Amino acid sequence: MIPGLGGRLAFGGDYNPEQWPEETWDEDVALMREAGVTMVTLGVFSWGLLEPSEGVYEFGWLDRIVEKLAAAGIAIDMATATASPPAWFTHAYPHTRLVDDHGVVRSFGARQNYCPSSPEYRRAAAALALQLAQRYADHPAVVLWHVNNEYGCHNWHCFCDVSAAAFRQWLEVRYGTLDALNESWGTAFWSQHYTDWQQIDPPRAVAYNTFANPGHQLDWWRFSSDELLDCYRAEVEAIRPIVTQPITTNFMNFFKPLDYWQWAREVDVVANDHYLRGEDPANLQDLAMSADLMRSLGGGRPWLIMEHSTSAVNWQPRNLAKTPGQMRRNSFQHVARGSDGAMFFQWRASRAGAEKFHSALVPHAGRDSKVWREVVELGSDLARVAEVAGTVVEPASVAIMFGWPSWWAATLDSHPSVDADPLRETRAWHQALWERNVAIDFVEPGTDLTGRKLAVVPMQYLLDDAALASLHAYVEGGGSVVVTYFSGIVDERDHIRLGGYPAGISDLLGARVEEFFPLPEGEAVALSTLGSGRVWSEWISADGSEVVASFSAGPLAGRPAVTCKPTAGGAAWYVGTELSDAGRAALLDRVLAGAGVEPVVGGLPSGVEVVRRRGDGVGFLFVMNHGDEAVDVPYEGTDLLTGTAGPVTKVPAGGVAVIRGTA
Ligand code: GAL
Repeated sequence: MIPGLGGRLAFGGDYNPEQWPEETWDEDVALMREAGVTMVTLGVFSWGLLEPSEGVYEFGWLDRIVEKLAAAGIAIDMATATASPPAWFTHAYPHTRLVDDHGVVRSFGARQNYCPSSPEYRRAAAALALQLAQRYADHPAVVLWHVNNEYGCHNWHCFCDVSAAAFRQWLEVRYGTLDALNESWGTAFWSQHYTDWQQIDPPRAVAYNTFANPGHQLDWWRFSSDELLDCYRAEVEAIRPIVTQPITTNFMNFFKPLDYWQWAREVDVVANDHYLRGEDPANLQDLAMSADLMRSLGGGRPWLIMEHSTSAVNWQPRNLAKTPGQMRRNSFQHVARGSDGAMFFQWRASRAGAEKFHSALVPHAGRDSKVWREVVELGSDLARVAEVAGTVVEPASVAIMFGWPSWWAATLDSHPSVDADPLRETRAWHQALWERNVAIDFVEPGTDLTGRKLAVVPMQYLLDDAALASLHAYVEGGGSVVVTYFSGIVDERDHIRLGGYPAGISDLLGARVEEFFPLPEGEAVALSTLGSGRVWSEWISADGSEVVASFSAGPLAGRPAVTCKPTAGGAAWYVGTELSDAGRAALLDRVLAGAGVEPVVGGLPSGVEVVRRRGDGVGFLFVMNHGDEAVDVPYEGTDLLTGTAGPVTKVPAGGVAVIRGTA
């Protein structure tokens, strides 16, 4: 919830007035009023104009547009403008340029070309942020501070010498002694023992056709996430003493390079950018999963979709336009899952530059267009449901465990199969739950799971001791769990837990894996029930557990594939392959019934998505009908979008309802 918005939902987008002659600005503001825009993000890529040469600041143009917006009652999410250093900066400080793992220096000319460890970059960024804060902190129209933009999007790793020095320092803090580092990285292997910190480089390209040390690589991912977080901190430290508004930066969904559990602890409100992959048939589930993650990162508090698109983007191979009504449903999906608004990239579609084919609120075609009419409609819809601002999505009884170090480690090289993908596995389980309208939260490994009815652990390859302990406590306390293959294999150093996989929890599961039998590319293995498995099979012994399905062909024919061990008050399931969608759905029916998990509203046809937010004594049921037929939704209340009241609400094909009822 953004206090400065006065109870309104955020609606608007990135506004880049500097791309247009000033004559356009009055029309922009008039159009924003027509559409009901409540907030715009200003200045994200304005560094070059705000500081045309070092230490020389020009705020005149920004002052003028700030006043125009303020006079129109439009709030401002003020960017610190540091996402893309200008040409003069890169020229003056050539060592700030990114260097890739082959030592190639990347050139100026796109955006975000800076080394995250560069002290020059951090100093310059903090200085500009400070100038902006000093100038606009007290401006009543500024309601939010937007630090930088999409950290790491184009510069997640830098392999330069400055980064190398920073990496060594980071390692010294983490390990204290070289002995500890050598032990953690297992450097006795292949004669990799270090005797001086100076011998350690970033994991740059190594000899041909071989593999860099996994501990080294894993720490590099950790370090790189931390370095970018330090960039964020440097700006926040500069502005925090001056500004009173909340501070944020925009996340990018399941973005592999940044451990968002750590990042989320440092933002005042979680903000996210999500773009549909036009050609992904399950892209609506992808949106829902991203939104569920963002809400979970913020501990359930309202968050904000900072960027999505009114229609096509420009950076996919084929950029599919949104069909009529799709933008509205997408926006409401985000709001339903806890976003206090719907923001877009960008306000006015560019005429020039690399994003000129990206959709916007004001398209190239102008007001007489499908997009503009839908934008105006969305603005008035969001105003109608403004009372949901600040309410929370009810906590889910199902939690999916997802950790970044595990993702990094699971996808390193030299593993049993290149096809084992924790994100695909996570997505598959989220999708099966989403299709049933079961509410889902994500949890960081090690989180207390008390109160959940079901925890899903989808290919969480790395589980540290805290994560194992929380799983034990939860299952012993009566919780049900589903653990899927290639989980709990290593500790936080990427050392195998010995004694049969997943050694730390195989007693809980009543399943012990002796050996992996990954499948050849594209091949499936038949199961006795639950269809077939892909990608993976393994030699499992069931001990105290029921064999729910066994492999029925190949070298493991007759051996367990899926097991279930009854526990204190629930069940511990183990799945030793990647199930087909149908098989997973069938298994989930049993799992959910056993765990007593109910959908938000049951019995709805497929393609109808429902989520409930709760306020003081009031509930808001959001219904997004992605299907081709109208649907009757049984939930007593009043649809805030149409004003219709009753025990059942008819939601047209492709339509949305927000039914205000009892909590
Ligand atoms: C985001 C970025 C925006 C714009 C948008 C296009 O990555 O923050 O500036 O580039 O994507 O989809």
